[in-house]
Amino acid sequence: MSNALVALPVELGDRRYDILVGEGLIGDVARHVAPVLKRPRVVIVTDRAVADLHLARLEVSLGAAGIRHEHVVLPPGEATKEFGQLARLLDALLDFRIDRNTTLIALGGGVIGDIGGFAASIVLRGIDYIQIPTTLLAQVDSSVGGKTAVNTRHGKNLVGTFYQPRLVLADLGALATLPRRELLAGYGEVVKYGLINDPAFFDWLEGHGPALLAGDIAALGHAVLTSCRAKALIVAADERETGDRALLNLGHTFAHALEAETAYGGELLHGEAVAIGMVLAFALSVRLGLCLAADLERVRRHFHAVGLPTTLPRLGQAPHVPAPARLLARMASDKKAGDGQLTFILARGIGRSFIARDVDPGAVADLLTEAAELCK
Ligand code: NAD
Ligand code: GLY
Repeated sequence: MSNALVALPVELGDRRYDILVGEGLIGDVARHVAPVLKRPRVVIVTDRAVADLHLARLEVSLGAAGIRHEHVVLPPGEATKEFGQLARLLDALLDFRIDRNTTLIALGGGVIGDIGGFAASIVLRGIDYIQIPTTLLAQVDSSVGGKTAVNTRHGKNLVGTFYQPRLVLADLGALATLPRRELLAGYGEVVKYGLINDPAFFDWLEGHGPALLAGDIAALGHAVLTSCRAKALIVAADERETGDRALLNLGHTFAHALEAETAYGGELLHGEAVAIGMVLAFALSVRLGLCLAADLERVRRHFHAVGLPTTLPRLGQAPHVPAPARLLARMASDKKAGDGQLTFILARGIGRSFIARDVDPGAVADLLTEAAELCK
């Protein structure tokens, strides 16, 4: 892909919207957002790190176009996705005396997108919002599809809404300032699309992943477009996750349990947890006789080659591998557990994932015990 701007639709009837993918969109933001604003007034929600790098360009563009703008800056990191910060954000929006014609712009990674989208969905009983994702993870996943949330002490993303944005602007240029570890974590979610139902994309990633992670803009563009196209199709078919949207949770039942172990303190990034979770999901599939060990090895080899984690992490101040029983208990309280059953996305091979609602907890416990032993 060159510098061309590509628009991908998310077909949701009268709530349809476009995902614009290209370079330099933030500096030219007014032109792109103006058609979807009810009035020329926005409040930008962002985090400190993103504000320092990208907020000024966005505000210059809005100012030049006569679009009134204010901003709220939250602390960076997963710990921001919580009730206290949500309350702070809602108060700030109301302090600005917004009205129902004001549009919120979420400028940042998945944390800002999730909490910003949630705030937009409840303040004044709902105002419009626009996603401007600045991490790879947010460009390929969290900015599309309208899931909003905060974490609670009971677990990840347990309070939130389905609330679609009016527009998503994925500026590939913004990824140039992203730390390598964050880029890699987002790459985990890119690989997910190959593992779910696109084996040709996984092949492509095996060849082009290193260039993508070195910042090759053409490779990044191809990966963002392929991922967004896949997500847009799934969301259009199953907005509320009553069916196939759950496939996007490949690796997430394990990942959410691991993230909860860190109390969302940044020790393990979401994308890193998802990478470990996807390896465990393939390992569970092999254990259950559903998938060839060669496919598991191929996934592991690719993650290892690019530098993503593939084994259970050591967490905490006196680092230790989380006990299998603790992880199982956390999985049981994840919202993907239904009727007391553990739901996993399992695989019959690369690109052949499916939803399994009746997984034997004994098999999961054995897998986790074996995985923990390997880390000793
Ligand atoms: P994040 O929002 O915490 O961003 C990661 C870090 O990168 C932050 O420190 C941020 O300040 C910094 N950053 C962001 N953009 C930058 C840039 N361009 N240059 C330099 N630094 C930059 O994390 P994330 O990985 O983007 O998102 C993870 C969150 O997304 C998790 O809470 C996860 O649950 C959520 N998520 C939601 C969905 C959904 O469908 N809503 C899907 C997947 C993940
Ligand atoms: N990231 C999972 C979903 O959007 O459904």
